[in-house]
Amino acid sequence: QELELKLEMLEKGGYEHFMLKEIYEQPRSIRDCMRGRIYPEEGQVQLGGIKEFADKLKNIDRIIIVACGTSWHAGLVGEYLIEEYARIPVEVEYASEFRYRNPIITEKDVVIAISQSGETADTMAAIEMAKEKGATIFGICNVVGASIPRITHAGVYTHAGPEIGVASTKAFTAQVTVLTLMAFYMAQQKGTLTSSKLRELLTELDCIPEKIQTALLSNDLIQEISSKIKDARNCLFLGRGSGFPVALEGALKLKEISYIHAEGYPAAEMKHGPIALIDEEMPVVFIATKNSSYEKVISNIQEVKARKGKVIAIVTEGDTEVKKMADYCIEIPDASEAFLPLLATIPLQLLSYHIAVMRGCNVDQPRNLAKSVTVE
Ligand code: AGP
Repeated sequence: QELELKLEMLEKGGYEHFMLKEIYEQPRSIRDCMRGRIYPEEGQVQLGGIKEFADKLKNIDRIIIVACGTSWHAGLVGEYLIEEYARIPVEVEYASEFRYRNPIITEKDVVIAISQSGETADTMAAIEMAKEKGATIFGICNVVGASIPRITHAGVYTHAGPEIGVASTKAFTAQVTVLTLMAFYMAQQKGTLTSSKLRELLTELDCIPEKIQTALLSNDLIQEISSKIKDARNCLFLGRGSGFPVALEGALKLKEISYIHAEGYPAAEMKHGPIALIDEEMPVVFIATKNSSYEKVISNIQEVKARKGKVIAIVTEGDTEVKKMADYCIEIPDASEAFLPLLATIPLQLLSYHIAVMRGCNVDQPRNLAKSVTVE
């Protein structure tokens, strides 16, 4: 019995749960994901897995991203990045919806299927349908040789290493990293990013693993905050721009491992309904980092405070503005808007982890969930 426990702890690298181990692996998994693919001095991105389609990428009409769950949230981040840098229209679809619609797809479409396991039934079915209609299919997968990489035309592996915890953490940030590389790669092919701008972006991306390491240092503060909201029955996560998919991901993490009802919403949407939910029992987590919509998020925080909501804000280090109004602030290092999702997600992973542990939940194997949904 004792030996078994010792072996299990060894397997988890000394962490109490696989999920915590995988959260702390992210500086390394993102470094592994970028290895051999970014050349900051030359301002170059190299993605061997899709380079045979480099010319095709110069004149495609549209990109359709299909995925489920957390991978779908990564797709939403990808939409902001690809549209911003490669100027290619992107649609993000739930694979389970896409496969049963009769979508208009042509040979000038590229479908990007995102799946950590590479075995999700709905995502596989969506791929088969898009393939029949003539689209080119790229995969973003974390398991070499899984079913999805076998049925796509090309793809880019995330190289995050095995993810055991059912709640996806390092796979999500690795997916976002691959989507960032793809956005830059497509921009490189289309010439929508100059090599000097690429040099600047890749130099910053190269430092993201260290910035994630810094974000992890807030763990004790986050544990303290978790103890204050662990008994909440509902929770709202609000963000704008690429902070919105981060809010969705934070809400899903909390839901799936602590069983607290949580919703992610665009912060501006609050006044169209959800603000009716706000009272002193309702924790509201804001992605309030310094980006193009910062001032607007500030006014959303004021609206929640005016209704006695409890505000937890993810802020850029050194922020003084939000500190004056939020109940709790968690700082992340400053970074360009393109890289904020990678950093802002870290505290939300830790928040849901600590709340789940305090509620005595089975963090690595939450009730009713499987690591890979291979059935419809
Ligand atoms: C994420 O925490 C969940 N475990 C779940 O939403 C997961 O992202 C979804 O089932 C998709 O799985 P896949 O990435 O392996 O296709």
